[in-house]
Amino acid sequence: MADGRKSCLTGKGVTKVFGFGRTKTVAVDNVDFDFKEGEVISIVGESGSGKTTLAKMLLGLISVTEGDIYFQGEQRDISSHRKRKAYWTQIQAIFQDPFASYNIFNKIDSVLLDCIKMRGGGRLPYEQKVEMMTEACSFVNLKFAELTNKYPFELSGGQQQRLMIARIFLLKPKVLIADEPTSMIDACSRATILDMLMNLRNEVGMTPIFITHDIGLAYYVSDTVYIMEKGKFVESGSADSVILNPQQPYTKRLLNDVPKIYEEWDLSTV
Ligand SMILES: Nc1ncnc2c1ncn2[C@@H]1O[C@H](COP(=O)(O)OP(=O)(O)O)[C@@H](O)[C@H]1O
Ligand SMILES: [Mg+2]
Repeated sequence: MADGRKSCLTGKGVTKVFGFGRTKTVAVDNVDFDFKEGEVISIVGESGSGKTTLAKMLLGLISVTEGDIYFQGEQRDISSHRKRKAYWTQIQAIFQDPFASYNIFNKIDSVLLDCIKMRGGGRLPYEQKVEMMTEACSFVNLKFAELTNKYPFELSGGQQQRLMIARIFLLKPKVLIADEPTSMIDACSRATILDMLMNLRNEVGMTPIFITHDIGLAYYVSDTVYIMEKGKFVESGSADSVILNPQQPYTKRLLNDVPKIYEEWDLSTV
């Protein structure tokens, strides 16, 4: 905390090993990080570099093989069911596959009611809950009244993505991990989703962590970028310094895949 900004999530030597012997995979290999409150963070790497595994450790969905994770400066404790539930009111995720977030047997209103309950609003009068759900839906351009009796799988892909964001609107976590949430949808709804996430960030003051293979997207949205290669962070820093002045061959290669995202168009040569 030397620079005065509060730490949100900190990791020291965080490692995840799957399997053993010949089938052993070191998915995340001794990474250190210090995500500050309020900054927009991106973790960028190719498929298989360990991004989702790291996200799952941050969320406490899988165990950490070695190393420590700190939340708001203190060693994270999710050793009991009650502590885990408390942690999940602070940190939430949206995934590439919206179904990962839903119990498919639950109708949309019960998905949203669960969020209100998680925030401690379980005993509020029903009319007030409807008001909250209506507000959350309108935030993402959905009409609650038209959704109440439906299941999430009855929605279009774009609507499912937006419903995930409505959940976050109700949950108001301190940290939101967005693991490639836009990679399944077209460019237009993608921009809308990003817009909504950034508005939500301002609305509830959360720290978003974008996980992506798209370094152009990372440049567009983030303050700080971590580049991940084969389970390791090979480079990190401000988006400008990492992307405009990459030091590592791997970062340069990722940038080569998306030429000219950051260069001014030179019209004189047209
Ligand atoms: N549950 C698991 N069991 C064994 N290996 C896994 C498991 N989950 C991920 N891996 C392996 O860990 C590595 C990193 O995967 P992942 O974190 O999904 O990468 P990314 O999200 O960057 O594509 C890959 O080699 C993957 O095969
Ligand atoms: Mg992944």
